[in-house]
Amino acid sequence: MALIDGNKIAGKIKEEIRKEVAAMMDAGKNSPHLAAILIGDDPASHTYVAYKEKDCKAAGIISSIYKKSDKIKEEELFEIIDFINNDDEIDGLIVQLPLPDHISEQKVIQRINPAKDVDGFHPLNIGKMILNLPTYFPATPYGIIQLLEKYNIETEGKNCVVLGRSNIVGTPVSILLSRKTNPGNCTVTICHSRTRELKKIAANADILIAAIGKPGYVTADMVKNNAVVIDVGIHRVRSSKTNSGYNLVGDVKFDEVSKKCSYITPVPGGVGPMTRIALLQNTLKAAKKIIYPEGYTLSK
Ligand code: GUN
Repeated sequence: MALIDGNKIAGKIKEEIRKEVAAMMDAGKNSPHLAAILIGDDPASHTYVAYKEKDCKAAGIISSIYKKSDKIKEEELFEIIDFINNDDEIDGLIVQLPLPDHISEQKVIQRINPAKDVDGFHPLNIGKMILNLPTYFPATPYGIIQLLEKYNIETEGKNCVVLGRSNIVGTPVSILLSRKTNPGNCTVTICHSRTRELKKIAANADILIAAIGKPGYVTADMVKNNAVVIDVGIHRVRSSKTNSGYNLVGDVKFDEVSKKCSYITPVPGGVGPMTRIALLQNTLKAAKKIIYPEGYTLSK
């Protein structure tokens, strides 16, 4: 079994981004600029946004965080989004999810100018991804694809099983891996809460992607010998073995599954750092106007 070291790959990419940003500034251009809107007090969302801010700083990318109460009205949030959409100094915009129940996630995503949608969540960008047109890939799937690529893991013709069908991970990663690309050309099966015989399907996977959101869900009996296992989950569970009193675990029971597979991503240090770096890569693409060279004009 070999560990897929997300920290190492992400570290290298971060250094490349940092150098590229420094070169842009030397050439008299602005640094890339990412704006993040954070609504409410959800501790996990605050942690993620703090990481994003820290990552931007390390890479020389400017970040602006707009923190708002969870009482904010949908219209007020739209006004902030419109303001950022129209600010030529800001290249990328993300609205941290989840949102309070009274705010429509889809309306918010669709309000973001697709040219600044560095999360790759806008339907236009998702559509482009399906059609294999240039677009921003959602961060976690983009990170996973790059891990497979950097570790020269063959995907063509392989059975790939994705556990979970979320808009953020399961659905986009299943699309990316089924396209006629490398990595790609997989035969993809998506499993979810209504799937029958999920264990049997998972055990047939050459590449198993666990994004189901349940700590330790994937056990050794669900994994084929020599499979590649990508663990997207990250959960804080109580532990008497650590000083902090908790431990970070994934969707996969690492101790037993790692004995059976050819490659596995650890938690932490596997997919997580790649998700973080993918956002910076998309922000750099936005600043360089690679995906939308002419910008994108929102119709009224
Ligand atoms: N919440 C959990 N993951 C993400 C992500 O990738 N982007 C945003 N905007 N919110 C999230």
